[in-house]
Amino acid sequence: MRVLDRLDELYAIGAGPGANRLGGSVEEDEAHDLVAGWMREAGLQVDVDPAGNLFGRLAGRRADLTEVWTGSHLDSVPAGGRFDGALGVVAGLEAVERIGQQERTLAVAAFRDEEGCRGQGCVGSRALCEGWLDPKPAAFVEAHVEQGPRLEQAGAPLAVVTGIVATARGELVFEGEPGHAGTTPMADRHDALAAAAEFVLALRDTAGAVDGAVATVGRLEVEPGATNVIPSRVVVSVDVRAPDSERLEAVLAVVPGETRRAEAVTMAPAPTDALRGELSRLGLQVVELPSGAGHDAGVLAAAGVPTAMLFVRSLNGGVSHSPEEETSAEDIAWCVEALDGALTTLASVE
Ligand code: HGY
Ligand code: MN
Ligand code: MN
Repeated sequence: MRVLDRLDELYAIGAGPGANRLGGSVEEDEAHDLVAGWMREAGLQVDVDPAGNLFGRLAGRRADLTEVWTGSHLDSVPAGGRFDGALGVVAGLEAVERIGQQERTLAVAAFRDEEGCRGQGCVGSRALCEGWLDPKPAAFVEAHVEQGPRLEQAGAPLAVVTGIVATARGELVFEGEPGHAGTTPMADRHDALAAAAEFVLALRDTAGAVDGAVATVGRLEVEPGATNVIPSRVVVSVDVRAPDSERLEAVLAVVPGETRRAEAVTMAPAPTDALRGELSRLGLQVVELPSGAGHDAGVLAAAGVPTAMLFVRSLNGGVSHSPEEETSAEDIAWCVEALDGALTTLASVE
């Protein structure tokens, strides 16, 4: 299956284990070059925008009409999975190749540095939407692995996404005083790591008490980092998510300092209905799910682009951001079928 073969070629970029194509890395560049080659082979016009976002365009019969976009991202987290991001680009390209020319131009996009492992995510799609998104496309449909267990539990291959959670990301610095690990009495210490640890547990407990909220400290830097020196400075990352801003703020009550927030977004009726129609036409259960993960689709939706997302079943209990991430060839075939039909519907009408 060409989609799987192409996902394997992308997965092979960078040393293992897992996918290692961090945003801004040479491995992400290599992935973009590889996909650009596939786009050219498909006869698409290849464009790269000022942020390095890649577009493959199949010109429509009506150049006066706005475009229909699909796609996702090619960067990964460290030791990431085979499907996160890459599936949306490769399946989108497969669908556009199958659809052929329509009234509207069809574009496959690969947005830069969606994961934002060094800070805020969706770097490429945010630059586009804050800069040169003119004219806005008529629709954007992103296919993405669910990265959770719900489709596997439901026994369904695909889901239509209803919305994307509100998020807040940032980092905190805890200042202490360095000191000798052996001669400084406990009562006299200003241990930055002990303070950071108390914050991490308070954040965990606060998020655990807010329905639907999650919070993660994924990165922690300790200075000076010697085993026999009391930590003098600790930097921790903060990632908080919740179904709505009210619950997000309830968790952020224990987070001192600034975080970068993104509002919860809901998917647009027209492209979402096109996806629902496809699942029905294919005889599939029309499962509808919210997304706990952030996506480029959330950035485009917030910028006013009529946006929809198609989730593809994650196996192995829905594990993601891990080499254990798994999705079946059968479900990928369903994804391409549904994308083909929905994009055709959206691109063939005024
Ligand atoms: O972190 C996220 O939600 C996404 O995988 N970038
Ligand atoms: Mn992703
Ligand atoms: Mn991801």
